[in-house]
Amino acid sequence: MIPGEPSTTARWVAFARGLGGYESPPLAADPHAVDLLHAPWSTLLRAAARWPRATRMAVATMDTLSQGRSRFMSYRTRVLDDVVRHASADGIEQVVILGAGLDARAWRLPELATARVFEVDHPDTQDYKRARMGEGRVTYVPVDFEKETAADALVAAGLDVSRPSVVLWEGVAMYLPPAAIDATLATMRPVLATGSRLAISYSRRGSALGRLERELVGLIVGGAGERFRHHEDPPQMRARLDRQGFRVLWDEGHPDWAPRLLGRRQGWDLQRIVVCEPAR
Ligand SMILES: C[S@@+](CC[C@H](N)C(=O)[O-])C[C@H]1O[C@@H](n2cnc3c(N)ncnc32)[C@H](O)[C@@H]1O
Repeated sequence: MIPGEPSTTARWVAFARGLGGYESPPLAADPHAVDLLHAPWSTLLRAAARWPRATRMAVATMDTLSQGRSRFMSYRTRVLDDVVRHASADGIEQVVILGAGLDARAWRLPELATARVFEVDHPDTQDYKRARMGEGRVTYVPVDFEKETAADALVAAGLDVSRPSVVLWEGVAMYLPPAAIDATLATMRPVLATGSRLAISYSRRGSALGRLERELVGLIVGGAGERFRHHEDPPQMRARLDRQGFRVLWDEGHPDWAPRLLGRRQGWDLQRIVVCEPAR
């Protein structure tokens, strides 16, 4: 991240979620994205709202040309929305969003209307979010994962460690060194009561072609002052979680989501989501 500035990739993914409403069918859409962003992203989303038919056509064309890659954010967000919905149906009323960026779940999902939501993020990104969305709906917890302990800050902010939580870590692990991932997992484990769930999106190491594709995306991310630092395949991620006291419930990627959510086959597999629980 560029010191003193909110994360650029957080703005990119918020923009992608804003456009998600024009996909056919939409998997996840964020009507708050336009308020979270400034120009040129907010201007583009306003233009999209003004010309919805043209936007739908442009989005469908991108979907076809990229063989579904342009939807990667929608898949990720939708699968994590479903994790939250299931947790809410099971009575979990405490939500922690690690590296929340411009995630608007707390405002967007009706299932969270009465939940206590904690948003943990780098102070530079969080200051920007606070200024846009205001106080009240979420408890903001500023933390730099490379320097501080999210768990201590969460407890100080009022996390009830006797109640189960659903914790989301979406689109962040790939920007952190493995030591910061391990430290966050190790310190979060004791504050997660039995019945808690932790969902992490991560970037897989993958095939040679997948690695080439990721290098190209990495160049674009590097141009924004951010850097991919962590990729690993499911067995290594499972071993990491195991070492830190978590038991994997499931681990899925785009080849699982495309048939389930859209009735399509999909060959590429850029990112995955693993859901785990504290091991007894
Ligand atoms: C790609 S964005 C994802 C944001 C959000 N989870 C989403 O999906 O919209 C990456 C996020 O990681 C956060 N981040 C990156 N490095 C961090 C660090 N060292 N400590 C805390 N947050 C960090 C950024 O502030 C940003 O919000």
